[in-house]
Amino acid sequence: MIKIAVFASGGGTNLQALLDAQETGLFKGKIGLVFSNLPDAKALERAETHRVESVAITSKGYSGSREEYDKEVLRLCQAKKIDLICLAGYMRILTPVLIKAYEYRIMNIHPALLPKFGGEGMYGHHVHEAVIKAKEKESGATVHFVIEGVDAGPIILQGHVKVFPTDTPQTLSEKVLKVEHLIYPEAVRLFCEKKIIVNEGKVRIIP
Ligand code: GRF
Repeated sequence: MIKIAVFASGGGTNLQALLDAQETGLFKGKIGLVFSNLPDAKALERAETHRVESVAITSKGYSGSREEYDKEVLRLCQAKKIDLICLAGYMRILTPVLIKAYEYRIMNIHPALLPKFGGEGMYGHHVHEAVIKAKEKESGATVHFVIEGVDAGPIILQGHVKVFPTDTPQTLSEKVLKVEHLIYPEAVRLFCEKKIIVNEGKVRIIP
């Protein structure tokens, strides 16, 4: 059984989608840890409701370096025997400390069709504003593995939505979130069934 940790800093609707999918038996994995860098993240409450262990290590005012912080997080994940880390609105850029220890075992979800509209500063409403400003006809969401470099890793799954001239960042974000909630559990299912192979930096999904 694959043991999963979900890292979240915010509302945690993607965490909720993963918890719900686990409960319906979509994937043969177990969310064994919800981690946050913010002790008041709503995601932690969602974990408690579902009786999943939750841990927060406050990043604001943390005395050590970013690497030291990630070493603590890594020790936690290793102690809990975590196999897969799912970033779900986790608002920190990971250091190589975690990325190397969990190579191709950390996923992230991004609210656009990467490689477009990714990179530093492209998060939350900034993404949807940029998509609308660029007059894109479609947008969507991407689940990808995390490597060094923001939003840069091999793409696992994407889901598309149409962008209409009447869309606002708010309406677009709502549409994209719905897609996120479908593709993230599906990516986890594929991982748990060992159907994702990474070769030369590209993902191949075994049918
Ligand atoms: C999502 O839009 C996700 O793509 C991005 O952060 C947001 C998190 O939303 N990485 P939620 O906390 O899961 O509701």
